[in-house]
Amino acid sequence: MTRVLCRLDELDATGAREIVLNKDGARVSVFVLKYRGHILGYVNSCPHVRLPLNWTADVFLDVSRTYLFCANHGAHFDVMSGLCIRGPCKGQSLTPYPVRVEDDSIVTDDI
Ligand code: FES
Repeated sequence: MTRVLCRLDELDATGAREIVLNKDGARVSVFVLKYRGHILGYVNSCPHVRLPLNWTADVFLDVSRTYLFCANHGAHFDVMSGLCIRGPCKGQSLTPYPVRVEDDSIVTDDI
């Protein structure tokens, strides 16, 4: 079964969008983003101390939109791999979340 997470045009404002899922009764925050023609998804949990990365709704990229950014202690992550390249969790990675594009929407089969 497939679940629609959001429409592609909902990424236009910030490049990303947070979606809160209910998985087996547990609240799980994930985010999807559009980056250089790729659509990617990650679990919204920083490997440093497992806080959500964002302080502002749907803002996950730094101001240059070059890196994913954790607002808590400034970790920077490579967008394509999720690897932390600067900050307190350098060398650790975000957890990928499986997404794909179907028609004009971003969907997941992980439900
Ligand atoms: S919680 Fe992300 S850098 Fe500390």
